[in-house]
Amino acid sequence: MKITAAITAVGGYVPPKILSNADLEKMVDTNDEWIRTRTGIVERHILDEPGKATSDLAVGAILPMLKKKGVDPAEIELIICGTVTGDYVFPATANVIADKIGAVNAWGYDVGAACSGFLFALVTGSRFIESGAHKKVLVVGADKMSAITDYTDRNTCVLFGDGAGCVLLEPSTDGMGIQDSITRVDGSGRDFLIQKAGGSMLPPSHQTVDQRLHYAYQEGKTVFKFAVTRMADVSYEIMERNQLQADDIAWLVPHQANLRIIDATADRMGLDKNKVMINIQKYGNTTSGTLPLCLWEWESQLKKGDNLILSSFGGGFTWGSIYLKWAYDTEA
Ligand code: UT7
Repeated sequence: MKITAAITAVGGYVPPKILSNADLEKMVDTNDEWIRTRTGIVERHILDEPGKATSDLAVGAILPMLKKKGVDPAEIELIICGTVTGDYVFPATANVIADKIGAVNAWGYDVGAACSGFLFALVTGSRFIESGAHKKVLVVGADKMSAITDYTDRNTCVLFGDGAGCVLLEPSTDGMGIQDSITRVDGSGRDFLIQKAGGSMLPPSHQTVDQRLHYAYQEGKTVFKFAVTRMADVSYEIMERNQLQADDIAWLVPHQANLRIIDATADRMGLDKNKVMINIQKYGNTTSGTLPLCLWEWESQLKKGDNLILSSFGGGFTWGSIYLKWAYDTEA
């Protein structure tokens, strides 16, 4: 019998503090109208508690999910965390998460693929289920973007928010779960969306701090151009090679970087807007957090057998899509 990797539970968390467009108007030369019309963002959540990091966002998503599902953290065999704002350069945030949730029998690692972090982690995690190596894999997307956001730079500070989401992957023998995926990278795009310092290319120094090189830098227009075509192309390509028509698709789950990119992707797929998960207005771009935060928010509307297309585009460049069949109905 063929084993597929099915999502059997979802969780999400955003910190309580809200940073609104009106707040940002007081910090940089911007305005609510520009932010709304150019990006679709109205507010985002920020983790501002000292001593709290990306792992804490992840734990906020994971523990309620495991409790609801009735899974003991000791049953988790593998934790894969998509993030670009890990608690430390090393060790991996997956290790910290394992410790904080009591996953005493797990191994784990991080996936650094920027806004495609969760999508790449989900594809990777599914392989461990499909091969029979593991039966309970925790896939997390978590980013404390406020830690690398320059709140004096209007080009980037209006875009990002903090948040995390997670899914539990388990084997399915009734054909539900992940059916197909397309994953791509193009490192020649690395200069357009990058945290320049802090790695081995430019280790931290007084100079790198003075030059503000530890913040996320983006050449927005260039990234937009790539994102809008790549995300639409890859979403269309996965439909085509699985003989899916727009009517066959229940939901598009797109990365939330810019409402105009999401709209272009839905248009290319021929999908009505009411089949597209959109929460960018509340959370902004939470990088690895966007896809699982959508699944978490829409969970109660998803039905067993629903065809979902997940798609992402991120710094690096990284992009991809997943076609999956939703594996369960949520009890009211
Ligand atoms: O998640 C990973 C992938 N990332 C993305 O997909 C993001 C892709 N890029 C974008 O979403 C868009 O490029 C942005 C939202 C970042 C920018 O929108 P845009 O329509 O490309 O604007 P722009 O960069 O071309 O800037 C237009 C104008 C500029 O003024 P001038 O040079 O025309 O006078 C900017 O200086 O808007 C100005 N501007 C702002 N104005 C008010 C830039 N940021 C702001 C701001 N408030 N926050």
